[in-house]
Amino acid sequence: MDNKVYFFDTTLRDGEQSPGATMNLQEKLRLAHQLEVLGVDIMEAGFPASSPGDFESVRRIAEQAGDIQVAGLARCMDGDIDRCWEAVKVARRPRIHTFLSTSPLHMKHKLRKDPEVVLQMIEAGVRRCAGYTDNVEFSAEDASRSDKDFLCRVVETAIRAGATTINLPDTVGYAQPDEFASLIKYVIENTPNSDKAIFSVHCHNDLGLAVANTLAALRVGARQAEVTISGIGERAGNAALEEVVMALRVRHDLYHLEHNIHTEQLYPSCRLLSMTIGQPIANNKAIVGANAFAHESGIHQDGMLKNRETYEIMTPQSVGRTESSLVIGKHSGRNAVRNKFESMGYKLDDDQLQLVFEAVKKLADCKKTLHDDDLMALVQEEIYRLPDRFRLRHVSVQSSDAGGVPPTAAVLMDIDGMERSGAGFGVGPVDAIFNVINDMLGREPELEQYAINAITSGTDALGEVTVRLSEGQYKAVGRGAHPDILVASARAYVNALNNLAKKEKEGERLHCQHG
Ligand code: KIV
Ligand code: ZN
Repeated sequence: MDNKVYFFDTTLRDGEQSPGATMNLQEKLRLAHQLEVLGVDIMEAGFPASSPGDFESVRRIAEQAGDIQVAGLARCMDGDIDRCWEAVKVARRPRIHTFLSTSPLHMKHKLRKDPEVVLQMIEAGVRRCAGYTDNVEFSAEDASRSDKDFLCRVVETAIRAGATTINLPDTVGYAQPDEFASLIKYVIENTPNSDKAIFSVHCHNDLGLAVANTLAALRVGARQAEVTISGIGERAGNAALEEVVMALRVRHDLYHLEHNIHTEQLYPSCRLLSMTIGQPIANNKAIVGANAFAHESGIHQDGMLKNRETYEIMTPQSVGRTESSLVIGKHSGRNAVRNKFESMGYKLDDDQLQLVFEAVKKLADCKKTLHDDDLMALVQEEIYRLPDRFRLRHVSVQSSDAGGVPPTAAVLMDIDGMERSGAGFGVGPVDAIFNVINDMLGREPELEQYAINAITSGTDALGEVTVRLSEGQYKAVGRGAHPDILVASARAYVNALNNLAKKEKEGERLHCQHG
């Protein structure tokens, strides 16, 4: 069917390269499962040769995957390709995605190779991949700044060597939509064997044009879109999956293109990612931001009441912004809780259910109705965290506007299994909490970012705090959710410290392994 667009999601690879978006194995497995539920055709699970941790997570994702194709990234080098195949081969439908730069700038300064040598490397690399599988993708890195006739030779070579998908990335987000569309059209029309491969695009957002460039390329014959959830990725990010999908759906009259994405899974997928990496969705984010379907002005509200289509080009329901009818509260039983989580896509084993059930009861004591987002935050807190060195037990804070009485915090926590307590002051209550915890642990990380976000509406809303810390060469993000924002702050801070400690440990382990 030549009007079918394949969605290739690279949230777990290019997305994970964005600052502060690192995920642990459990989190990656959960997101990979959600990508399958969403209807993504191909997911890029990682870059196996980049680290032992990446290799392991690609292998585990490949093992767990159902019908979705699982790609691993590899430079056009034997070692990378072999390692990539080792990691993806356990998938039902594995793909090797190999790449090499083709622009004059990259060939001269990054690769330090002549164009003819680059062609030979592409030929040899793709052939090696094709020896393992017939599902091979080749990417001409920095395609948008490459010479278009050289690009045709590159593509012809890669297809002759066995590539079945050809990706032409706008690696640095430099292209403009009409110019990018002309390039894609030119390559398709001027490469003799172009009918033997699917053409793909992968656009970065440095000038805010990633989605526009992707759509422009689809109009002239590209049939694979490389995207990420919420557009996360290197620098300014990649094309946002939800935006490309909804443009195709809302403007079907223009594109006439079909795809396999279940659009009602868009919002849950973006929410899950946001919770996982601790980066809130901006209020004005297209499709999934809090304001995307909010109508504030009187004229708009009046129009909406008369006919929704006056100001709404798609319904909130079509992108999954609905609460399911199963309401969870204080009196919900274990079965209802299990069913609710299943309906949200979480399959919990008995031990996990027990943990979550207890947490639901605790939260329902201080909050009457639990929304889907509350529950998602909770399962994220209870299940998807790695074992921690530091555990917060209690925090209490006193703050006052009387001069001369600084805010005070008292903290009780477990440090490597030992109960410890501490108390101290700060400029404000959050500062007091962080100072006490630092003193108890004998550390002084730099607080790079502190953000607070209400997950649901109302004064009893769950507050979600995200903090980013750095110490030496390591950086880590932590998050915490609780109806009391000071408790959420303490949890986020302790979570970030645990993540920092894990990174230091992982760094030491790799240092020992590689000597
Ligand atoms: O941006 C890019 O060019 C990439 C390639 C590896 C596909 O991420
Ligand atoms: Zn990229």
